[in-house]
Amino acid sequence: MSYETILVEKKGAVTLVTLNRPQALNALNTTVLKELIEVFAAYDADDSQHCLVLTGSEKAFAAGADIKEMQSQGFADMYSANFFAGWEHVTATRKPWIAAVSGFALGGGCEVAMMADFIIAGDNAKFGQPEIKLGVTPGMGGSQRLALAVGKAKAMEMCLTGRMMGAEEAERGGLVAKVVPAADLVEEALKTAEAIAGMAPLAAIATKEMVNAAFEMPLNQGIRFERRLFHGLFGTEDQKEGMAAFVEKRPGNWKGK
Ligand code: HXC
Repeated sequence: MSYETILVEKKGAVTLVTLNRPQALNALNTTVLKELIEVFAAYDADDSQHCLVLTGSEKAFAAGADIKEMQSQGFADMYSANFFAGWEHVTATRKPWIAAVSGFALGGGCEVAMMADFIIAGDNAKFGQPEIKLGVTPGMGGSQRLALAVGKAKAMEMCLTGRMMGAEEAERGGLVAKVVPAADLVEEALKTAEAIAGMAPLAAIATKEMVNAAFEMPLNQGIRFERRLFHGLFGTEDQKEGMAAFVEKRPGNWKGK
C-alpha cells in the first residue's frame, strides 16, 4: 500500500510509520490524518504486528497542524467538521505504539507525540505548544496531555509563552521516556519496539488499558480495573505458557490467546 504523506514499512513484528511531507516540516493536514487513521487501524487488525513506531525526519517530527489549511476556516467550518476529532481514531489504537521524535514537535506535532504510549526523543528534539502565537490554543489535546505529563507550572508556561522545551528538559519533566543520540533515534526506537513486540500480546493490550486508566479514573477504580484485567489474564493460554516458560527457564512462545 502506498500513501501520499507517510511511508509504512513492516520490520518483523514492528510497523514503522514515517511522516513524509518534508516541504512542510511534516505539518499535519487532513491527508496525513486520513492516512494515519487507515494505517493505525490496519496495524491494530494485523495479527503479525505487535508494536508500531511513528517518526518524522531528523529536522521535524511534525511542525504542527497545517496552518495553511486552517488559515481561512471559520467557526462553522471547524465546528461542523468537528475538526481534529478524527485523531480519536488514532488514540483508540489498542496495541502499543511509540513516538520517535527528532527535531521539531510543535503544536499538533507535540500533541500527536503525546498521544503515543510513550515518546523516545533524539537529543535534538524540541517540544512546544506555540499556538498562542497564532492567536489560538492547542486543539488536539495538548493542554491536557502536557499538563498531565509535566505538571501545571511547566504546561501553563509553555502554552502561554509558546517556548520550546529541549529533549533533556523533556526527559527531566517526564514528557519523554528516554533521550538517545538523534542519529540513532529510529534504530533505538525499533529496538524498544521489538522488545515490546516480543511480549505476550494480550498482556501488552491490558497494560496499555490499565496505565491509561490512571489518567481517566479515580485511584480506587483504577486499582480495581487493574485487578480485574490481571485476573482476566489467568484465563489466557499465554499466562500458562509464560509461567511454565519461567519455571522451565526458556523464552515464552506466545499465542495471543
Ligand atoms: C504549514 C508549515 C508549518 C505548519 C512549517 N511549515 N510549519 N506549513 N503548517 N505548521 C512550512 C513553512 O511554511 C515552510 O514552507 C516550510 O514548512 C519550512 O518551514 P520554515 O519556517 O521555513 O523552516 P524554519 O525557518 O527552519 O522554521 C522551523 C519552525 C517554523 C520554527 C518549525 O516552521 C515554525 O514556527 N512553524 C510553525 C510552528 C507552529 O506554529 N506550529 C503550530 C501550528 S498550530 P514554505 O512554503 O514557506 O517554504 C497547531 C495546533 C492546532 O499545530 C490547534 C489549534 C487550531
